[in-house]
Amino acid sequence: MTKIAVTLNGRATSADVEPRTLLVQLLRDTLHLTGTHVGCDTSQCGACVVHVDGVAVKACTMLAVQADGTQVLTIEGLAGGTQLHPMQEAFREHHGLQCGFCTPGMIMTAVDMVARLGTDLSEGTIRENLDGNLCRCTGYHNIVKAVQAGAHAMGAPAAAAAE
Ligand code: FES
Ligand code: FES
Repeated sequence: MTKIAVTLNGRATSADVEPRTLLVQLLRDTLHLTGTHVGCDTSQCGACVVHVDGVAVKACTMLAVQADGTQVLTIEGLAGGTQLHPMQEAFREHHGLQCGFCTPGMIMTAVDMVARLGTDLSEGTIRENLDGNLCRCTGYHNIVKAVQAGAHAMGAPAAAAAE
């Protein structure tokens, strides 16, 4: 076992992991943050997306030891207390989910998309940048609408002031 330390959702966290432990296993099985989902385990579905040092990563493709010393943000750390993050609020408002299984990964990918590409995202850009996230339920239309609205909301003065 190897001891690793991460800043997880803003809190210093440490854990003993095996060399083969995946980041998603550390989050779900050891630290009980089950908002990060496992849909495929083969780097295809995007249900496991988290941010590592501010960049979206499929947590089933990264070893926990590789996260040692990093800042990890999961869906549980996105909201500010009881206040939903603007992207979460947009998914709620625009019915961007049905069963919700893909939703944490979609939202973490969407927030990363805004960080990389800005708050004014075209439908085409959103669809292109969501190509690593699969949804079995929605047909994507409302997800795209939600990402577009959430991106705009993230650029609004109130949201900017809160970050
Ligand atoms: Fe990681 Fe599907 S569980 S991409
Ligand atoms: Fe069910 Fe996307 S809402 S998988």
